[in-house]
Amino acid sequence: MSEKFLDKAYSLETPEATLEHYNQWAASYDAEIAENGYATPGRIAEALAQFQTDLSEPVLDFGCGTGLSGLALRRQGFETVDGMEPSAEMLAQAQAKGAYREITQIDVANRKPIRRGAYRLITGCGVLGTGAAPPDVFDMILHALPKGGLFTFSYNDHALADRAYTGKLIEWVDVGAARLLFQEHGEHLPKIDLKSTVYVIEKA
Ligand SMILES: C[S@@+](CC[C@H](N)C(=O)[O-])C[C@H]1O[C@@H](n2cnc3c(N)ncnc32)[C@H](O)[C@@H]1O
Repeated sequence: MSEKFLDKAYSLETPEATLEHYNQWAASYDAEIAENGYATPGRIAEALAQFQTDLSEPVLDFGCGTGLSGLALRRQGFETVDGMEPSAEMLAQAQAKGAYREITQIDVANRKPIRRGAYRLITGCGVLGTGAAPPDVFDMILHALPKGGLFTFSYNDHALADRAYTGKLIEWVDVGAARLLFQEHGEHLPKIDLKSTVYVIEKA
């Protein structure tokens, strides 16, 4: 039986441990995640399409991993999808899918990997949460978006239980710096009974 990684993914504590984990997981990620019924990429793509009718506008799939989230965007009809990802091994898998126009490897120590105003549409599918990107990445993405830009993302049940993540959303929305357009709790990895909330927010 091949090694399983999903059960270790929610207890990673440092950026280095996270990077190492995803580098090792890359080759078997798609199979293990599919086995568990990974539903969030399709839900994110559908949610974004409710608020974005021009499907030719580029979408940045931040933390694109092996490219399952980019594939879902392409299946939804988004024509131009770029990816950013810190793990070289995950990124190599994404490259092989052919779903992206460009894929950029980012350094997790880089606090501003997205050029300000470069994308009006950004997605983060399964990226913000324990064992992946830290809460500050939420601010980085919102600062990079232009006014009117959309961030479509998910928090799984672990992230939803962590005020450090939910607090970021509340901070931006409560002061009127972002507007909550869509919020839906639904299937994430049904086989392990893990759900996620998908959000669409607009930068004010
Ligand atoms: C659960 S995977 C999701 C990948 C892909 N979006 C999907 O839906 O399959 C989380 C991804 O976040 C990436 N990640 C971890 N820390 C990150 C950070 N600080 N910034 C951006 N991506 C990060 C990981 O390398 C991994 O590919």
